Amino acid sequence: MWRSGAVLLHALVAVIFGMVVAASSSALADDPKAGRKKAAKCQVCHGYDGIGKNPEVPHIAGESEIYLIRQLRAFRSGSRQHPQMSIIAKGLSDRDITDLAAYYGALKLTVEVPEF
Ligand code: HEC
Repeated sequence: MWRSGAVLLHALVAVIFGMVVAASSSALADDPKAGRKKAAKCQVCHGYDGIGKNPEVPHIAGESEIYLIRQLRAFRSGSRQHPQMSIIAKGLSDRDITDLAAYYGALKLTVEVPEF
């Protein structure tokens, strides 16, 4: 009898743990929709489509989120420097950075390799 009680307790703990994990991860999850709104600050140069609007501006559409987050943090901390991006990144919160990375990272890119 106590065994089935222990199994039940185990199951209950697993369910509660699962709920806690789900709740905390949804609170922390990056939000590409919010990122799209925040991209208003970026669109002059990178566009909403993530394609650089002049030859000095890199394409960031479909780029890995991990890479985008790392670059934006580097601009913000000063470990990567660029006259425009350093200033822009200073105004971004951690949440802005993850939302923007989620948005630009979610864009779908197709590539055509030319025949050489
Ligand atoms: C005034 C133009 C301008 C604006 C506005 C701008 N960027 Fe940039 N961004 C650049 C340029 C130019 C570079 C290239 C920096 C370099 O050469 O190191 C760059 C680089 C980056 C990179 C690094 C890309 C790579 O391949 O390493 C990321 C990520 C990025 N920008 C994201 C953003 C985001 C997000 C915003 C909006 C919050 C934004 N930028 C706004 C001009 C801009």
